[in-house]
Amino acid sequence: MLILSFESSCDETSCAVVDMSDESRVIRSNIIASQISIHALYGGVVPEIASRAHCEAISSITDQALDKANITLDEIDAVAVTYTPGLVGALLVGVNFAKALAYSVGKPLVGVDHIKGHVAASYFLTPAPKPPFLAFVASGGHTSLIDVKSYTDFDTIGRTRDDAMGEAFDKVARVIGLGYPGGAEMDKLASVGDPKAIKFPSPAIPDDSLDFSFSGLKTAVINHVNTLKMKELSYNKADIAASFTYAITNSVINKLSSAVERTRRIKLVAAGGVSANSHLRASLKAFSIRNNISLYLPDLSLCGDNAAMIGAQAYYEYKAGKIADLRLNAVVN
Ligand code: KG4
Ligand code: ZN
Repeated sequence: MLILSFESSCDETSCAVVDMSDESRVIRSNIIASQISIHALYGGVVPEIASRAHCEAISSITDQALDKANITLDEIDAVAVTYTPGLVGALLVGVNFAKALAYSVGKPLVGVDHIKGHVAASYFLTPAPKPPFLAFVASGGHTSLIDVKSYTDFDTIGRTRDDAMGEAFDKVARVIGLGYPGGAEMDKLASVGDPKAIKFPSPAIPDDSLDFSFSGLKTAVINHVNTLKMKELSYNKADIAASFTYAITNSVINKLSSAVERTRRIKLVAAGGVSANSHLRASLKAFSIRNNISLYLPDLSLCGDNAAMIGAQAYYEYKAGKIADLRLNAVVN
């Protein structure tokens, strides 16, 4: 089944063609127009600018996706689009474009939840995970532990109570003077720092829940930097990045251990922009070996926002009969 899919929930406009069946999943094209350089000027995503940039990019990336896949619109079996969660103006650009396109070529329209899309990035792995499994999704806007009961039935069993994990990476990066978004740079710096140099508080909430809170950790980093600055002492960026990352990865492993114990799942998928973090990936690998769990980490190119993952999830939504009509609307969360 050939699916033309769109992603525009935040600061990447993406269009893909994926060829999906139960036996094979092929990415024929996956074009991503990133707005990062525009938003970097402001130190974060400016919603109004994001919507306008999506409008400017979406037609041409659709042409590019079709050209690269070497197909015409007539050959497409369905059109898919992220409709939730995200920035409302940004989502509306993709939703309206996809609706108009589906209507004009008379093809079914499938609305996809962005978080489910992130998880579906793992379906391009060989072997691919088959539900049921546990999923940990961490990005710039979300941090969730999910019991994936079937391809379309997701039960969120843990979440952040404040910032998202990627947001925490970006904010700490800013505090120590790195560019936006700072997650990838923090990753590199952490590799040359000492993870035990500074004892930062754990973002794993110390109760029976599977929830996280990043505000205490963020404040601890700010206090550490400010205290040294007041004493006119220099601070070690690499040690901060490494110690911060250590606190984060430990909290993930802590809550994942409880989640595995609770759900008895034996497969784990990690997804979202933060799942590209090399330290988190290493900790997850060690955790899965210790616990005899099969771990599925999407290819680095599919961790961040992209339309191929939306197309992959759309296949399962379509098979479950979840076809949208022209009333499909953007839903913020
Ligand atoms: O999934 P994504 O591309 O967009 C959202 O849905 O939000 O995730 C972007 C987030 C940003 O906060 C970025 O700093 C973070 O993922 N990120 C990383 C790494 N690469 C991207 N965080 C930590 N380590 C990385 N290597
Ligand atoms: Zn995302």
